[in-house]
Amino acid sequence: MNNWYFKKWAKVLLATALVIGTHHTASSQDYALPDFEGAGKLKPEFIKQGKKLYADHCSGCHGMEGNGKGPGAYGLDPKPRDFTKAVFKFRSTAYDSIPTDADIERSIREGIYGSSMPSFRLFAENDIKAMAQYLKVFDKSGKWDERPVQLTLPPAPAWMHEKDEWLNKAALGKVTFDQFCVTCHGSTGAGDGVGGAALVDNWMNPVKPADLRKAHDIGSGPALEDVFKAITTGLAGTPMIGYNSTLSDDQRWEVVAYVKFLRRSYKNPSMALPEPKQSTTTETSNIAIENEFE
Ligand code: HEC
Ligand code: HEC
Repeated sequence: MNNWYFKKWAKVLLATALVIGTHHTASSQDYALPDFEGAGKLKPEFIKQGKKLYADHCSGCHGMEGNGKGPGAYGLDPKPRDFTKAVFKFRSTAYDSIPTDADIERSIREGIYGSSMPSFRLFAENDIKAMAQYLKVFDKSGKWDERPVQLTLPPAPAWMHEKDEWLNKAALGKVTFDQFCVTCHGSTGAGDGVGGAALVDNWMNPVKPADLRKAHDIGSGPALEDVFKAITTGLAGTPMIGYNSTLSDDQRWEVVAYVKFLRRSYKNPSMALPEPKQSTTTETSNIAIENEFE
């Protein structure tokens, strides 16, 4: 037997070992991750696919136990979400409700602005759905058995895009902002209000009020509709509560108009607000009267 023969088999064996090796790591059976426990309304068809995708793309930050403590989580601020509690910041639902599947899928697809949560936009929709289902297996709260309580999130009113009207509404929004938001978000919206200085979230991590002047600091997204959504639903697990029942739809849109003003005047400090013209309380009471006839 010559040297060539050995070399040839050494290569074949090495290649086989590599193939087995790759095959070995590719099998989802081998991930030390749960399959079904803990989660209520899971879509089983997605679990196998979701498990592999989660192990490859999410566990580094969100952890093999889904507790947000993966090796890549070290030093991140904000911290990766802990999936054992079914508490989600970014939802179209009430503050204490679970999110809809579409909400979770959106966070995965778009990523979260102002954090290290990347966008998985290039993944197939089915893969995104599978990951959104899979992360529920880590839950220990039993909340996935409940129904999400969806809130109405209409598109921005037409006046938002007409300069005079928008500024008049922004002036009204400032009145509401100074009453409900300024303590935490500060008088320029920079997130430096005295009441926002030492806040923590449900996981006892420090949390700072958002800088409302910068669209790309808003986890929900940069659009004005995203700001409306954040104010309406709140960010569960944080001191940023939802104002769905405290403020009427009109009042929340006026506050959004003011956030638009804060963004614009941050770049163009010569911009000014007019005197507030019309009282919001009148609008609110009109709504109350309309509702009586429902
Ligand atoms: C580089 C680290 C990192 C990776 C990788 C990562 N995430 Fe995240 N993820 C985060 C961080 C940090 C947050 C928290 C953002 C915040 O609180 O503003 C987050 C938040 C989320 C949220 C939003 C939760 C909420 O409260 O609404 C979902 C859903 C999510 N991640 C799913 C995933 C999935 C699924 C994957 C894999 C496809 C993944 N993440 C990969 C860091 C990561
Ligand atoms: C008790 C303090 C507090 C009050 C009052 C408060 N906020 Fe916040 N707000 C926060 C904190 C803290 C965050 C950041 C939460 C996070 O990123 O986890 C935040 C985040 C936000 C965000 C960004 C949401 C996102 O998706 O990232 C917006 C917009 C916002 N607040 C608007 C408002 C408005 C408008 C009001 C008044 C109606 C208000 N907040 C009242 C503490 C507060």
